Amino acid sequence: MSALSQRPAGAVVGTAVPHEAAALHVTGLALYTDDLVGRTKDVLHAWPVQVMHAHARVTALRTDPALAVPGVVRVLTGADVPGVNDAGVKHDEPLFPDEVMFYGHAVCWVLGETLEAARLGAEAVEVEVEPLPALVTVREAIEAEAFQGGQPRLERGDVEQALTASAHVFSGEIEFAGQEHFYLETHCALALVDENGQVFVQSSTQHPSETQEIVAHVLGLTSSEVTVQCLRMGGGFGGKEMQPHGLAAIAALGARLTGRPVRLRLTRSQDITMTGKRHGFHARWQVGFDDEGRLTALDATLTSDGGWSLDLSEPVLARALCHIDNAYWIPAVRVNGRIARTNKTSQTAFRGFGGPQGMLVIEDILGRCAPTLGIDPHELRRRNFYAVGQETPYGQPVRQADRLLRTWDQVLDTGDFAARTAEVAAFNAGSLHVKRALAITPVKFGISFNFTAFNQGGALVHVYKDGSVLITHGGTEMGQGLHTKMLQVAATALGVPLSRVRLAPTRTDKVPNTSATAASSGADLNGGAVKNACEQILARLSQVAAEQLHVPAADVRFSGGVVRGLAPGGPTVPWEDVVRLAYFSRVQLWAAGYYRTEGLHWDSAAMRGEPFKYFAHGVAAAEVEVDGFTGAYRVRRVDIVHDVGDSLSPLVDIGQVEGGFVQGVGWLTLEDLRWEDREGPNRGRISTQSASTYKLPSFSEMPEDFRVSLLESAHEEGAVFGSKAVGEPPLMLAFSVREALRQAAAAFGPAGTAVDLASPATPEAVFWAVEAARSGEGAHLRDGGEQPPQPTGPPIRPTSERVLSES
Ligand code: MTE
Ligand code: MOS
Repeated sequence: MSALSQRPAGAVVGTAVPHEAAALHVTGLALYTDDLVGRTKDVLHAWPVQVMHAHARVTALRTDPALAVPGVVRVLTGADVPGVNDAGVKHDEPLFPDEVMFYGHAVCWVLGETLEAARLGAEAVEVEVEPLPALVTVREAIEAEAFQGGQPRLERGDVEQALTASAHVFSGEIEFAGQEHFYLETHCALALVDENGQVFVQSSTQHPSETQEIVAHVLGLTSSEVTVQCLRMGGGFGGKEMQPHGLAAIAALGARLTGRPVRLRLTRSQDITMTGKRHGFHARWQVGFDDEGRLTALDATLTSDGGWSLDLSEPVLARALCHIDNAYWIPAVRVNGRIARTNKTSQTAFRGFGGPQGMLVIEDILGRCAPTLGIDPHELRRRNFYAVGQETPYGQPVRQADRLLRTWDQVLDTGDFAARTAEVAAFNAGSLHVKRALAITPVKFGISFNFTAFNQGGALVHVYKDGSVLITHGGTEMGQGLHTKMLQVAATALGVPLSRVRLAPTRTDKVPNTSATAASSGADLNGGAVKNACEQILARLSQVAAEQLHVPAADVRFSGGVVRGLAPGGPTVPWEDVVRLAYFSRVQLWAAGYYRTEGLHWDSAAMRGEPFKYFAHGVAAAEVEVDGFTGAYRVRRVDIVHDVGDSLSPLVDIGQVEGGFVQGVGWLTLEDLRWEDREGPNRGRISTQSASTYKLPSFSEMPEDFRVSLLESAHEEGAVFGSKAVGEPPLMLAFSVREALRQAAAAFGPAGTAVDLASPATPEAVFWAVEAARSGEGAHLRDGGEQPPQPTGPPIRPTSERVLSES
């Protein structure tokens, strides 16, 4: 067992404690950034001037009329920027643009004494534009060859030769939707400037250090002149990894120019129309199988819809490419990646960060091809699992292939898969208009940032003279329970009760140069750093206690707030006494901790290396019921076993698995992000701008019977106290629901019916899949190389059209 992963007896990690702020969350006492406004004097409010054109050049901007509106204090424009007029790290995102790049792009901001004054002022600003041609769909961008960023290629083996030698070759195309984050707390920043010109920005950000950097470069300041604090977020889900920066910079610029605090909080429809979402993708593929249904080759081109600027599109695409294999061994692989540039919001990180998009392609292929191969989908998936010793297409060994199998078998067993499959078949045989299906899918998800440098974390641990402990670390809290875990890590590492430890909000002047709390690595990185800081303190305290206990320092043990030697029954000293004595002996009682993940390397040009410390695994089995008249469906039961290593905090982890799964089900089956792509004045407009038109999962869509358990005996050598990351991987367990819907639709047709299913698989999409299955049109593939008839039934809506043919 490694020193990092070893867990002492009586550890506080692993105990089921509630989220550290649960009581505050449910009583409404928890403070979010915008709650500070009422506690701050003389705050100005910011409102954007959004231009409603998908693409246009600004030819005139008249701000004077706004200044005539009572309560308007100032209008911020590009001319006010003392530093760099850019909101991103790629220098392709003008903060005050003179070219409108998407419908709703903000060109300037109005500051008012009240929000209403700022809003009226924004309405009074006169903007003249010259409309330009716009690309709205990914297909339009592909046709126009409008791409941005690098075009990576992931390659192993000779794909042509492998396809030629394959017993079966299929090809197809799929386009699938993005997803709106819909965090409960919209983007928010509150900026203040002190008497020395020091800028203090409170921001709802997953990446305070980068928010600090962007604010500094917009204002022409150094990083040391800007402090960013994040109290907590009401959800981030990746949407606050990059997107808060420009908004924080606007607030900071306003504060600097007016000398007053400036608050910027987006309304829901501003948030939806102005900030980035999960990338939708288009994929074209060709796949080979041998006679037993084993994958032989995959040739694919993935085009993500990046929106107007790069943002995180390149790393998202890289992760998509690195997850197209999911849990499956594919000997020969060639995957090309491209990022379309469209006139939309700049698409960004979203839980899974491209992983779900890559996996959707292979899961779609397997679900689509299984009937044609004459193999049950679960058997086809199982047959293609990695074996120990095999490598991913980018060259990383799959060291825990057996663990995935153990997880899979556990779900088959506890989910009663065989018996329930028979029950479903019996039900379907006796039911003409309602069909059920049971599907099981695996997840293998790489943990670490692909970009090696981000895999570092920092922490500051203070032990006060009275023995109380205060920790600060580089990670942010967005509901995922990171702070809870860090408190447990510190209590375990110091050997004190959990109640001894408190946690202070994330601030860049406490822990500098932090990475985004993202890639699910928050607990790994910051936990490593908190543990390191605690160990430095204990090493010093051990010397002090050794003298008191008359034992060698190496034999001193800290546990449960008591300090003792190794020998049972020996003398003990309370933690507080050791701490007090250490202070009077002039021993430093605080430490800065640091952690870097070892053993990573990644060549992003060659797309080769070992970018991940380990893989997280999970398996889900979902049973659905579909109504053949309407396509409406219910999720009857879901069984999940998920691998979080040895859990740091089981209640938090189970919450993450449940939440991730449901969010994934939302993406794949409910949430239907629609952009107006017809010509006309509304082209490029998002027509789903609120909860009334954008359907989120709610209680009524929860699985009726939902059984989640954590994989047992799952110690992870490479991570803090033997745990594994949890935040993102469970989202991809939702493929089980999508595949169950596909199988249920197929059950309306003759045996062996292959089904195309649009994504999201809304009731409407399921209805068309049922229709196609019933009529047999286009959905029947015969083995032997004949072209299938083209689908002639009612069209799937254009954003999800695809053709599949066997060649
Ligand atoms: N859980 C909640 N409740 N709210 C969130 O915003 N974000 C997810 C996940 N779980 C999120 C969440 C995303 S996208 C990531 S990357 C991880 O949490 C980040 O936190 P971690 O690294 O501490 O797991
Ligand atoms: Mo999560 S998408 O890595 O913030």
